[in-house]
Amino acid sequence: MAGSYPPDLGAWRAAARIAAEARELGVRLAVPGAGRRELAERIEGYIREHGAEPAFPANLSRNVEAAHYTPSPDDAAVLEAGDLLKVDVGAHIGGAIADTAATVEVGGTLRHANLVRAAREALDAGVREVRPGVSVDAIGRAIESAIHARGLKPVRDLTGHSIERYLLHAGQSIPNVGGMSHERLREGQVIAIEPFATNGLGSIGNGPFGHIVRFRADPGAADPDLARLFTRFRTLPFALRWLDAPERTVLLRQRRRLQLYPVFVERGGGVVAQAEHTVLVAADGPEVLTALP
Ligand code: CO
Repeated sequence: MAGSYPPDLGAWRAAARIAAEARELGVRLAVPGAGRRELAERIEGYIREHGAEPAFPANLSRNVEAAHYTPSPDDAAVLEAGDLLKVDVGAHIGGAIADTAATVEVGGTLRHANLVRAAREALDAGVREVRPGVSVDAIGRAIESAIHARGLKPVRDLTGHSIERYLLHAGQSIPNVGGMSHERLREGQVIAIEPFATNGLGSIGNGPFGHIVRFRADPGAADPDLARLFTRFRTLPFALRWLDAPERTVLLRQRRRLQLYPVFVERGGGVVAQAEHTVLVAADGPEVLTALP
């Protein structure tokens, strides 16, 4: 059965290459004393300078924060030695999206090396299962057992996801544990696999607002300022940081049209590591789009 691939596969590969390079830039720049806001801006700037757009704000979640934190417009925090930082980066070219993450222990303190390795090994184990027709349960089980092998827990309520044009979470979930879903992968699909490993409970709850928002739907033309913002971001997540003060006012007046993302925080107060690749489900197995040569 021949699959249906994105017609502009070149754009998906190019966006993935830029996202992967931006991820590695973020990892290199994540040193003690580095400003969180400056780090996010460098990552996003790299993406724009190389012909793509951020598909979502650079997520720089730390320690017990698993995901969905981006610096606020006036964020003055700096990274500290020992911080476990998730550099989660998205780039798109005309809606062809890549999503990739790596975890760095700031200052190389090696307190959490086991967590970092667990997430990376789980990602590799999940990717190895990818082929047309495979149940996503096989991926979830492979991830779960790789993390258990290091004496840690996968975060069961966070998942990878299928990706479609301008849709970061396109409907299919790629679980990080077994027994959650028995849907099957299709040839030509693009998916993100993103295991999270923790020394906590393996579950997340909602923390404070993480300065990331998204339009729930097209707001229409009634408010021209709002319509202009929708043209810019469509339904992709974006950062309040990317707007000037009048634009933020326009937007927050209309907050019922928005999804406001809370930071996901580990329920047991555990530290969380993440690794993520965007993968094409090719006829003969996985093509890891966000791997660098
Ligand atoms: Co993702």
